[in-house]
Amino acid sequence: MTPSTPQLPVTLRVNGVPRTLTLDPRVTLLDTLREHLHLTGTKKGCDHGQCGACTVLVDGTRLLSCLTLAVMHDGQAVTTVEGLGTPDALHPLQDAFIRHDGYQCGYCTPGQLCSSVGTLDEIARGVPSHVTADLDDVSFSAEELRERLSGNICRCAAYPNIIAAVSEVHAAQNGTAQPEKGQ
Ligand code: FES
Ligand code: FES
Repeated sequence: MTPSTPQLPVTLRVNGVPRTLTLDPRVTLLDTLREHLHLTGTKKGCDHGQCGACTVLVDGTRLLSCLTLAVMHDGQAVTTVEGLGTPDALHPLQDAFIRHDGYQCGYCTPGQLCSSVGTLDEIARGVPSHVTADLDDVSFSAEELRERLSGNICRCAAYPNIIAAVSEVHAAQNGTAQPEKGQ
């Protein structure tokens, strides 16, 4: 007889709402969001950490939800694309993606948006990237943006428009001129 898998209680604060579940501890955060909470905005592209379609924010930091187990995040806050904005009250990045044609099929877009939110926060907090020349001076540039978003694959190749959209939001938030366009 096969022994049954133990089930564990997990409470996640998803888009501001506490959600308590009883889960097989092997269930990923991505499958928890999509299959157990029916929040299908977060996409499963590769399920192997290679495409970025499943990116969400956990306690404000971007994370690939296909590579992490839900039980590891008991008590933490998870933000998905559903929690960024609504059709009547878009997040500034959602609004900018629309105006800049930052998507075509839209499959990668929830991950691109969550990753962009996390990226702008990382730059604001001075978190360096692989292309940061001076670790004491982390500043916004198109090169920084391209590097930090390089884990989010877009098969429709909307990259230049995504960079333009995120650059515009950064400039609006910081009262600065936009860096050069394109990728
Ligand atoms: S589905 Fe998670 S990185 Fe592709
Ligand atoms: S908009 Fe189609 S994959 Fe990015």
